[in-house]
Amino acid sequence: MSELFKGRIAVLGMGYVGLPTAVAIATRGIDVVGVDINPATVAAVSRGEVPFIEPDLAVAVSGAVAMGRLTAASEPPDADAFIIAVPTPFHEDRTADLSCVRAAAEQIAPRLRPGNIVVLESTSPPGTTERVSGWIGALRPDIRMPHDGDSSSDIFVAHCPERVLPGRTMIEIVTNDRVVGGLTQQCAEKAASIYRLFAQGEILLTDAASAEMAKLVENAYRDVNIAFANELSMITEALHIDVWEVIRLANRHPRVNILSPGPGVGGHCIPVDPWFIVSAAPELARLIRTAREVNDRRPHYVAEQVVAKAKRFRSPTIACLGLTFKANVDDVRESPAIEVVSLIADALADTEILISDPFVDALPTQLSGYSNLHLENAYQAVERADIVVLLVEHEPFRAIWHNRLGGKVVYDTRGAWR
Ligand SMILES: NC(=O)c1ccc[n+]([C@@H]2O[C@H](COP(=O)([O-])OP(=O)(O)OC[C@H]3O[C@@H](n4cnc5c(N)ncnc54)[C@H](O)[C@@H]3O)[C@@H](O)[C@H]2O)c1
Repeated sequence: MSELFKGRIAVLGMGYVGLPTAVAIATRGIDVVGVDINPATVAAVSRGEVPFIEPDLAVAVSGAVAMGRLTAASEPPDADAFIIAVPTPFHEDRTADLSCVRAAAEQIAPRLRPGNIVVLESTSPPGTTERVSGWIGALRPDIRMPHDGDSSSDIFVAHCPERVLPGRTMIEIVTNDRVVGGLTQQCAEKAASIYRLFAQGEILLTDAASAEMAKLVENAYRDVNIAFANELSMITEALHIDVWEVIRLANRHPRVNILSPGPGVGGHCIPVDPWFIVSAAPELARLIRTAREVNDRRPHYVAEQVVAKAKRFRSPTIACLGLTFKANVDDVRESPAIEVVSLIADALADTEILISDPFVDALPTQLSGYSNLHLENAYQAVERADIVVLLVEHEPFRAIWHNRLGGKVVYDTRGAWR
């Protein structure tokens, strides 16, 4: 019978990954303390509220807080296990910025007691879990850490990458298979005892570096395939061929599955994680780098197409539908739609641009300086526009627009209105 974790867990980082993880564990009857450096987040979670939109999360958090299983704090408490789910962005040179991970590791170091488990969930370059162990070890020479290969350490350190899809997090956090990579075999087994509490998918034990690399490879794989679709879309557009029809036909081949083109790649996983592979092996990761460059260039291409269409009018009004990085979520981080809108607004400073997104009620800071941009409800925006650009295929946009687009120039970057 596999071991099940008993004790108290602290989860550092109450964001899109940490809060669902904390609540999934708390719901299994474990006491969980959610730790965050943002006082507003701590206050919201303490009230049983969620500071962002994710289906089914709010009800789970309010329930876990009401039951007294989930609490929030700004400092790590004493606990039996610590899960680190803090951001891992990149520096300007595209190398990983591990400052939040290091800060979290150093915050928990004074709390650690023999037998404790430390799990890094943040997406990280190969070797980071070992570095976490090293950072803790430097502050705690009194305890044996596993990073030097000592199979009988006092503390168990592992990496368990998160692969949930925003918008489906509460389902996938339970149903997805989990990769758990330990610095030693025992570390992996100890960390797995936590995920067995709530994961219904298979738990796959491995070493920490393989787990780190597997997560990065998953996102690089998707990035390369999206780049293929985006490149295809530019080629077919130049040849006056409908890319969606080409993909539909090609995908009838039993071993072909081309992804959908779009205005770029957003979120803070796929546009970020492949760079961690590129910076680990810059001479070798040529395809992965090129895919990143193709996808990063994509918003410029889309904006150029819109500007070219606008030049056909004397004084056009443009409606841009969708700002978030993907459909049916409120997350605007790394959103290519925002980049497209700002590029159009830069190029057409005298053109009125109406923006609509049912999940966004104020202009994101990147767009707040433009006097020619206005948030508008989608009906009004489409009604008034000469050019309608679909940037995000939110469900309300998909459903209602066919009959309202007559006589307008339509640029559907998502193929939602075919
Ligand atoms: N969002 C996703 O869908 C997703 C999916 C898979 C993996 N990941 C990875 O998970 C990690 C976390 O991502 P996220 O989307 O949850 O980020 P997020 O920005 O939503 O949340 C991170 C939280 O950590 C807090 N924080 C920062 N430093 C801290 C510290 N030292 N101690 C305590 N709290 C701290 C921040 O205030 C913030 O609330 C990243 O490595 C990301 O790449 C994210």
